[in-house]
Amino acid sequence: MNEWAGLADLVASALLIGGIKAMSHPRFAHRGIVLAGWGMLIAVAGNILAYGHLAPETWLLAGAAILLGGGAAWLASRQVAMTAMPQMVALFNGLGGGAAALIVVTQLLDPASLQGLPLGFGLIALTIGSLSFGGSLVAFAKLAGRLRHPWRFRYQNGLHLIWLGLIALVAVGFFTLPETKDLTAIFVALALGLGISTTVPIGGADMPVVISFYNALTGLAVGVDGLLLKNPALLIAGTVVGASGTLLTRLMAKAMNRSLGAVLFAHFGSVAATGPGDGKASKEMDLTDAAVSLAYARKIRIVPGYGLATAQAQHKLAELTEWLRQKGVEVRFSIHPVAGRMPGHMNVLLAEAGIPYELIQDLEEANPEFPQIDVVLVIGANDVINPDARNNPGSPLFGMPILEVDRAPKTLVIKRGQGTGFAGVANPLFTAETTYLLYGDAREVLNRLLAALKSL
Ligand code: TAP
Repeated sequence: MNEWAGLADLVASALLIGGIKAMSHPRFAHRGIVLAGWGMLIAVAGNILAYGHLAPETWLLAGAAILLGGGAAWLASRQVAMTAMPQMVALFNGLGGGAAALIVVTQLLDPASLQGLPLGFGLIALTIGSLSFGGSLVAFAKLAGRLRHPWRFRYQNGLHLIWLGLIALVAVGFFTLPETKDLTAIFVALALGLGISTTVPIGGADMPVVISFYNALTGLAVGVDGLLLKNPALLIAGTVVGASGTLLTRLMAKAMNRSLGAVLFAHFGSVAATGPGDGKASKEMDLTDAAVSLAYARKIRIVPGYGLATAQAQHKLAELTEWLRQKGVEVRFSIHPVAGRMPGHMNVLLAEAGIPYELIQDLEEANPEFPQIDVVLVIGANDVINPDARNNPGSPLFGMPILEVDRAPKTLVIKRGQGTGFAGVANPLFTAETTYLLYGDAREVLNRLLAALKSL
């Protein structure tokens, strides 16, 4: 490697680490993404230069790959709806795992280049990269609503254990057989299949944990590739992504009160059945009454959820918040860690609408306050406020910490109709004594609510 390439790797790594650090705060997240993007560009350019003089056809191939890959990613990112971001993250993450696996495949095609310990590391990277690729594709299909029902049967975990044993057996073949070219295809097929097969039985509600787990695996595979190729940029980037993915997995699992083992093997909380409901009817409130409730409240908590994102109602919400605050009402936003469809989804929406970060509170801060809050305004949230998660051991959500809105004296809920949330279960909060429904698309309802407030 020449010094310029080494320097490029160093700069790229610093930009990547700085970028990830900046992403940890909503105010600097955009800057973080731009920094990491520059890091990526410098790493790619530096590594092409590291090979010194390239044959013209290699330049052509590298250029075409960058143009095709970069162009497709650019187009997809520009067109994707905010609500479809999680499946795109799953897809891109899977492609990262697949790329890490392919790097090992190219090494295995020349058996002399990988032997002994490096061969062992290579097989580990190939396994986790392929697993992540296969699993992420299934996660993508589930999040995009193309694969609705978890497919399960008895002894599924036992079958996966045997499958893993088979992978280990083929791995031994790489060390003992004289000819291993055919083994590579078998090995990849087995690992890819295992990724797909272990993800299919996991229910939609557990997908946030699964995506971040595969994100960690992709990072790990890339990091091991960096070791094999003696490439510092890959090693550092992979390790950073692996570590942050692992932390995110832990945070997500904690937010849903699941252990990673339960998500992957027990399929707890994955029954996507629609609950029968409690037979009670919900009460509707007209917008003038709702406006009066809000205008005369001292303390209001707003609980946003996925419906706020689909309605793109964040700007209207910011206007309404500003109006109430100017009238002296204390307004704060209570955010559940898995509200929406991706980590930080609500924070991103609120930041986009210019809502001050100081107004946001998390679950631990919000819950003790609810009994003293005059009015809670729920906008397109459902699973994250479902009291069955606390009270009903038969509910697929049971055990997930929720925002305990049901303990507040009055709750207004904006939703379009009788739709369930992501987990597909009924929510007894909507028929509770203290809950009033404001039916309609979140943006329209907020618009009319603001007009009603202004005309009071
Ligand atoms: P959900 O439980 O998905 O509920 C969304 C609610 O919004 C529904 O009740 C729906 O009812 C309403 N809605 C939809 N479009 C609307 C619109 N245009 N206007 C007004 N209301 C609308 O949302 P949540 O409470 O945010 O919970 C998130 C769920 O997603 C959790 O189960 C979580 O595990 C899962 N999940 C989270 C993530 C991450 S990391 N955040 C990733 C994947 C999955 P109507 O149809 O009646 O309007």
